[in-house]
Amino acid sequence: MTKDFIANYQAHTNIALIKYWGKRNQDLMLPVTSSLSLTLEAFYTQTQVHFSKDYDEDQFILNDQIQSAQERQKISRFLNRFRQLKNTDLKAQVTSYNHVPTAAGLASSASAFAALACSCNEALELKLSQEELSIMARFGSGSASRSLFGGFVEWEKGQGDDSQSSYAHPFDEADWDIGMIALVVNQKAKKFSSRQAMQHTIETSPFYALWAEEVAKDLEAIKAAIKARDIQKIGQIAEHNAMKMHATMLAANPSFSYFQAESLKAMEAVRQLRKTGLTAYFTMDAGPNVKIICPYSQVAAIQEKLSQDFDPQNIIVSRPGPQPFSIPLINQ
Ligand code: DP6
Repeated sequence: MTKDFIANYQAHTNIALIKYWGKRNQDLMLPVTSSLSLTLEAFYTQTQVHFSKDYDEDQFILNDQIQSAQERQKISRFLNRFRQLKNTDLKAQVTSYNHVPTAAGLASSASAFAALACSCNEALELKLSQEELSIMARFGSGSASRSLFGGFVEWEKGQGDDSQSSYAHPFDEADWDIGMIALVVNQKAKKFSSRQAMQHTIETSPFYALWAEEVAKDLEAIKAAIKARDIQKIGQIAEHNAMKMHATMLAANPSFSYFQAESLKAMEAVRQLRKTGLTAYFTMDAGPNVKIICPYSQVAAIQEKLSQDFDPQNIIVSRPGPQPFSIPLINQ
């Protein structure tokens, strides 16, 4: 290869309504269960990759900061999968920007690896399908497999140890009255990574035995509710599913929790919103922030009510987001 290979993509983050919590095969990044998410418009990552003989080693620059060797190695391992497909050993410069409202603590590996997968595919002219890219993104982070698509997305768990059988696909465009509000209750880095936390849960929590069965039921129920555009049902199922996931952690040994005092206050605030007739349900991931599922037509009313108890700057509204798309190159 003589020319330079370069591309820049934007991918949006996603929030699971039916959670992925645990791998049946850690090397192949295969999940114990299928999961279902909503891609968000407000949070995204833009990642340019430039493969060139001018680089002696891979470089990773995030938000204008050169990243540590450890971070760079993660990226290099991911790039290796693409280099293998192209049969090249060209090194690359990866330049990435996380577009998350100031320090909201919602930066996600999901949008990051989805954007990088798309850029590698285009830069190296691999012509992988969306499905194949979802599989590639999965190797970076499980939840990244879902950021290859917009709207409601289902990630299929696949079969056995067949790595090619587990990928995401669009479920519903979410081009109707649905929104999500992120309530940022803590801006500090999370205490433990979801990767370690889910493995610890599998290994030590007696409640984990119930998880797969509950997810299977919740998944069927939420799919029917999405098809019926029944947002109350969607919210009820998602809220219960999130709490069941967090319950597996409370029962781990030693136990742990992502709940902070402010998270509990936010959850209670959402319950109170419901008492006033608003349609709002919460979900939480591997961090203390609370996300609220609601009709988009109610976001202003919900925002106004929450502003009485929370800093308005920490209440971030989003519509459903799109699939990844190509963006202009950054000037070299
Ligand atoms: C709680 O995708 O971050 O957000 O696959 O180990 O990289 P790895 O984990 P990650 O886990 C996400 C966990 C979750 C639920 C979800 O997004 O489904």
